[in-house]
Amino acid sequence: MTISLFAPLDMHLHLREGAMLRLVAPFSAAQFTGAVIMPNLVPPVDNLDRLAAYEAEIRSAVASYPFMPLMTLFFRAYDAATLHALRGRIFAIKLYPEGVTTNSTGGVSDLEAIEPTLAVMEELGIPLLVHGESHGFVLDRETEFLPVYERWAQTFPRLRIVMEHITTAAALELLDRYPNLFATVTLHHLLITLDDVAGGLLQPHLFCKPIAKRPSDRDALLAAALSGHPKLMFGSDSAPHPIERKEAAFCAAGIFSAPVLLPMLVELFERHHALDRLPDFVSGNACRIHGLKPPQREVRLVEDPWTVPPRYGDVVPFAAGQTLRWRVLTD
Ligand code: NCD
Ligand code: ZN
Repeated sequence: MTISLFAPLDMHLHLREGAMLRLVAPFSAAQFTGAVIMPNLVPPVDNLDRLAAYEAEIRSAVASYPFMPLMTLFFRAYDAATLHALRGRIFAIKLYPEGVTTNSTGGVSDLEAIEPTLAVMEELGIPLLVHGESHGFVLDRETEFLPVYERWAQTFPRLRIVMEHITTAAALELLDRYPNLFATVTLHHLLITLDDVAGGLLQPHLFCKPIAKRPSDRDALLAAALSGHPKLMFGSDSAPHPIERKEAAFCAAGIFSAPVLLPMLVELFERHHALDRLPDFVSGNACRIHGLKPPQREVRLVEDPWTVPPRYGDVVPFAAGQTLRWRVLTD
């Protein structure tokens, strides 16, 4: 038996640079026809020269696939002239509050001071992607950030705001209240809770930002994804770190899920008798929300069990050692 997905998109992806990029990018390009590329490199992608060089590096790493990198710029308080010049060269701008996650030093420290930039983005139709976490208690960080989303949604009603990698039922509720709010959700936040991370022996390979939350949050996210919520898009947040940064004191945040994404999504949606909702979740919603036209390519999966290897290079993948039923066919 095979399953075909038309033009699947990963709306939140970390590819890194250099050897890591060359290791991980082919997994995404084999499964997806496009992805939104995060700019949190060191130093961040915050100007057009760096963006063009990074895009070229990505394209060369995935040259054998039709793959559309949707480039993002690291949020700065760009002025109107800069934003005019950027427009057309970027898909969106990604905002990190200062210090909330991997490589976010240099993020925004005064969320009110940046409103002039948001006003110009609204005018120019540049989407705002947000890592929406406060600096509060770790389980409350996303919820504490929701009033910021709400203020921006009200103040800039034509600004397309994407709440990235949402992890709570409360975020879903807010999503439904404002027409200009959208969200991405990861595979892992549809599957795991904080118990999987820290309820038994500590699991560094499941440690990510935002941290996985309660069963009730996970269940609400899963129900929304399975129901085909039209404002919810798949974004893996696959974020590879070398094993020595994960199996260590001061473990880095990030889950490397790229090699298993479509097989696990198909299995999950199939288990819940919702396979007919998967095309919208992994492509249709994003195309409609952002007016995207990804390469016209069908990705096929075949029922052919395989066991996820313990490592790819020096990175441990999500679901290592698990047997998955579906395999992506590569032509
Ligand atoms: C991401 C990374 O490693 O770049 N880490 C993570 O835990 N998700 C950054 C991010 O998206 O927060
Ligand atoms: Zn991310």
